[in-house]
Amino acid sequence: MTKMKSQQKFEGTFWFNNNLFTKNLVPGEQVYGERTINVKQEEFREWDCRRSKPAAAMYKNLHQFPIWKGMKILYLGVASGTTSSHFSDIIGKEGIIYGIEISERSLRDLLPVAENRKNIVPILADARKPEEYSWIEEVDLVYADVAIKDQSEILVRNSKMFLKPNGAAMIAIKARSIDVTQRPQEVYKQQRKILEIFFNVIDFVTLDPYEKDHGYFVLKRK
Ligand SMILES: C[S@@+](CC[C@H](N)C(=O)[O-])C[C@H]1O[C@@H](n2cnc3c(N)ncnc32)[C@H](O)[C@@H]1O
Repeated sequence: MTKMKSQQKFEGTFWFNNNLFTKNLVPGEQVYGERTINVKQEEFREWDCRRSKPAAAMYKNLHQFPIWKGMKILYLGVASGTTSSHFSDIIGKEGIIYGIEISERSLRDLLPVAENRKNIVPILADARKPEEYSWIEEVDLVYADVAIKDQSEILVRNSKMFLKPNGAAMIAIKARSIDVTQRPQEVYKQQRKILEIFFNVIDFVTLDPYEKDHGYFVLKRK
């Protein structure tokens, strides 16, 4: 048997033989066909950097990742739950993810995931209209991955409404959905200016080659 080399950089995330994993909150259940392994009688799910942007950011040597046990998260563009299932593993049963999604079809695919993981609350709504879900509580972190032109403005608007003082945010910027004619580096620079109205940028990485022309910002509320 070969010995598994393990490392931990951020709470709730694990590197085994240079591959990223989270500890499965629901052992025996997979979400998107990801590989699982057992280490010392615990089950870990591989966090695929080609399917999930925060995982890609970690492979690109991100230094700040402000998600930990018990956190409350507002997730804009939760889709069918690929990334949120790993956030769900990290925050554990004491945490909660309010997952906003505009597409009924994606949300339908999220329902069985949320059925297994009681810390994910699926909400069918438009992230451009946070008043539609004004009932949710204050959160520790807002994550945005809606891949639309005005998503930095959407993140700021939602954070003004729901993010607690000192709270954090993360956003994956797809340069091509903002401006196909500009160089991605130019797009990131412009988006940074919008984000800096409300946040300090505490980390930034590009996600190539895992996600082409994507930038990933980690932010702290001013
Ligand atoms: C890139 S996908 C998200 C992938 C997901 N974050 C993951 O990693 O598992 C973008 C999602 O944002 C959703 N979306 C687009 N515009 C939206 C809006 N205005 N409000 C809420 N969701 C939106 C899309 O339907 C799509 O499911």
